[in-house]
Amino acid sequence: MRIINSSEELNSIRFSDKKAFVPTMGNLHEGHMSLVNFASKNYPTVITSIFINPLQFGKNEDFSNYPRTLKKDIKLLEEFGSDYLFLPEKDFAENLQLIKPKFANVLCGRSRPNHFDGVLTIINKFLSIIKPDVCLFGLKDYQQQLIIKDFVKRHKINTEILSLPTVREASGLAMSSRNNYLSDEARLHCGKIYSTIKKIADCIESSSNTDNFDSFREDALKDLKKDNFVIDYLEIVDANNLTKPLTNSKKILIAIAVKYESVRLIDNIEIFL
Ligand code: PAF
Repeated sequence: MRIINSSEELNSIRFSDKKAFVPTMGNLHEGHMSLVNFASKNYPTVITSIFINPLQFGKNEDFSNYPRTLKKDIKLLEEFGSDYLFLPEKDFAENLQLIKPKFANVLCGRSRPNHFDGVLTIINKFLSIIKPDVCLFGLKDYQQQLIIKDFVKRHKINTEILSLPTVREASGLAMSSRNNYLSDEARLHCGKIYSTIKKIADCIESSSNTDNFDSFREDALKDLKKDNFVIDYLEIVDANNLTKPLTNSKKILIAIAVKYESVRLIDNIEIFL
């Protein structure tokens, strides 16, 4: 795997084949590797990036102590078939005009006000430099991939945005770099986040009457509070626009963000009606 440190170096490479791009912030886990694996099985050239993007962290968030595990990450990327690793310098995120995305003021955007501006701004920069045929994201960050898909479509950017299923630990907990902040016992307990939204999904599948959604949600909130989760949000929304579901909504999203022992964890389930 060739490691590239600057946009200039990247621009000097003549890629003749179709390129898949997997942007990451490192501390790679099975969720990331499923993206790299898909990319290497389906595209001749795979480019990954590791960049802890300062623009997407709030003042009191974990930018400075975000886990940095570069050596281990490089090994994994080589093993899973990444051809190039782009490691931009610190100044990659400097002097950029922040982009204001659509769908950014709800769900995670409420408690992380400028988070998606930062994500979209850096992804836009990556896409404009790398010009990949396809760019891969995980569905765990549902709102992130929706925002990027919408932006790419509206700006007619010639990259297909592909979103792949969430990879889970045995307990059901969605894989995330932040799971490393939890003890083994806490990780097991946090399986409850997924089982709770799965229960709501089962209820919706057996009664898709939107009048019942509030009561499914209230019951779930009670359970989660009993289990010591601090709720940021638990929402049942139309998956296409993140607003209140209508009777003719085709796809519903159950999205959740909680804190457990101060670690913020998110998850979601999509339901096709
Ligand atoms: O999901 C992430 O790890 C980040 O938000 C991303 C897409 C790499 C942008 O910095």
